[in-house]
Amino acid sequence: MNVFHVVGARPNFMKVAPVLEALKARKHVIQTLIHTGQHYDPNMSGVFFQQLGIPAPDVNLEVGSGTHATQTADIMTRLEPVVAENKPDIVLVYGDVNSTVATALVCAKLGLRVGHVEAGLRSFDRTMPEEINRLVTDQLADLLFTPSEDGDENLRREGVSPEKIHRVGNVMIDSLVRLLPLAKKCSTAGFPERYALVTLHRPSNVDDSASLKGILESLLEVNKRIAVVFPVHPRTRQRIAEIGVPLSDLHLSEPLPYVEFLALQSRAAAVLTDSGGIQEETTYLGVPCLTLRSNTERPVTVTIGTNILVGQDRQKLTAELKKILDGGAKRGHVPPLWDGRAGDRIAEVVCRG
Ligand code: UD1
Repeated sequence: MNVFHVVGARPNFMKVAPVLEALKARKHVIQTLIHTGQHYDPNMSGVFFQQLGIPAPDVNLEVGSGTHATQTADIMTRLEPVVAENKPDIVLVYGDVNSTVATALVCAKLGLRVGHVEAGLRSFDRTMPEEINRLVTDQLADLLFTPSEDGDENLRREGVSPEKIHRVGNVMIDSLVRLLPLAKKCSTAGFPERYALVTLHRPSNVDDSASLKGILESLLEVNKRIAVVFPVHPRTRQRIAEIGVPLSDLHLSEPLPYVEFLALQSRAAAVLTDSGGIQEETTYLGVPCLTLRSNTERPVTVTIGTNILVGQDRQKLTAELKKILDGGAKRGHVPPLWDGRAGDRIAEVVCRG
């Protein structure tokens, strides 16, 4: 059986690793890994391959950055001959990035089976590019692997036939479970003893100067109560440089490798983020998370986990942070099937055919 995996952006890498590993154990499976090159900086890509034990890609399409249309179209054009020539039995796509939707479109039109890992998530906010990617990918996929019950419900409501839907749990948590022991041993010397960890990269927060300025001013306020540690995404770095708010009081760094970031997350007093995956990782770790968005495609992190949506409401951020720092943080549980075995469940369904 020939299985292709197509990945491209940082959050794809922690999702593909457990599936590659689980399928490796099945002797009749031949795997091919394609990197679209959507993310290409060593600290956004190479270091994740190395730490997660992902083999070097068999093919790198080297598409690089661009507008949504350019990037999606480049991936499609470069991927089509590769899959058309090899005719894999199934192509697995991950998450909700441009590489995901571009691959699903190419493969569905070639009549190839598509499996979507992390299907069914919905923010119900079509201003998010990822929401468009999720909706389209899920309509095209033949196998839909969901992390939680809300994913199944969303898909059924959109008319996806129930036999295509497989609730396998959260595959990103598989990588976390595997590497947490290493992260526990990882030194965070050089970072403050007690800190709030911040990540920021959503276009809705960083591409608009007024929003970004407001958020950065909030972070400077937060930093008066607790040190702010802020590894800066390349998109955000460019925008910060453009608006020129002085941030020398914060602990800024380049994007961090997986294990170092996991170590910082697990020891943080609070995490402030607009990432999707980090809402889930903090829920698993039991670390309080304040999400700088007004909606989430991962509602179980709010209903079961430690996540609170604060949007761009500065007063709410300050009030919720105060509660956390005063010892009154919201407590959560780990959602069902976030147990480190999602990759095995996916492999089983893929091999069943
Ligand atoms: C992409 C995903 C987003 C995901 C995020 C994780 C889409 C639509 N968005 O957003 O869902 O949460 O990845 O990081 O697929 N850049 C670099 N080096 C790189 C990659 C990008 O400097 O290795 C810069 C480029 O200037 C680029 C910008 O970052 O234009 C944005 O990159 P892009 O891949 O378009 O989107 P992300 O914001 O990373």
